[in-house]
Amino acid sequence: MFCLVYTSKANADFGLQKVQEMLVKARDSNAQQNITGCLLYFNERFIQYLEGDEITVKELYAKIEEDSRHSEVKLLSQSRIHNREFITWRMAFEHLKSENSDLQYLKLLVATFFENPENSLSPNPTSIEFWNATKLLLTTKYADKSA
Ligand SMILES: Cc1cc2nc3c(=O)[nH]c(=O)nc-3n(C[C@H](O)[C@H](O)[C@H](O)COP(=O)(O)O)c2cc1C
Repeated sequence: MFCLVYTSKANADFGLQKVQEMLVKARDSNAQQNITGCLLYFNERFIQYLEGDEITVKELYAKIEEDSRHSEVKLLSQSRIHNREFITWRMAFEHLKSENSDLQYLKLLVATFFENPENSLSPNPTSIEFWNATKLLLTTKYADKSA
C-alpha cells in the first residue's frame, strides 16, 4: 500500500461544477482501481491525498500530473503505508467556502486522525503532511479574511 499528497492550481475555466463532474468519473474509476482518498478545493487550489496499490497510485498520479485542467502540480509527500486512512471514501471532496463548514470539516479531520484511536493508531507521514497542508490552507484563508 502506498499514499501520496500533491497540490495544484485549478485552471481558470475549471470551476466547481466541472470539478464535481470530473469527480463522478474519478470515483467510478477509483472504485475499480481500489483507490481511496480525499480532495480539497480551496481558492482555486487543490490538495489531494491518494492511497492504494503503489503502482496504481503512481499511474494515477502520472495521469493527474498531465491533466490540462490544472497546473503547478507539486508532490508534497509520498510513503508506503500498512493501512488505508480512507477505507470507504472513493474520493471524498470538500469545497472549502463557508466559515462554519470549514471549521466543522477541520474538526472532523482532527477527530478522525488524532482523537479516534481505532482509526488513527499511527498516522502515516503523508497523512500528517496532508493535514498540515490542509491546516495551512485554512490558516491562510482566515488570515486573508482578517486582513
Ligand atoms: C484535481 C484533479 C483530481 C483528480 N482526481 C482523480 C482521481 O481521484 N481519480 C481519477 O481516476 N481521476 C482523477 N482525475 C482525473 C485524471 O487526471 C484523468 O483525467 C482520469 O484519470 C482519466 O484518465 P484517462 O481517461 O486517460 O484514463 C483528477 C483530475 C484533477 C484535475
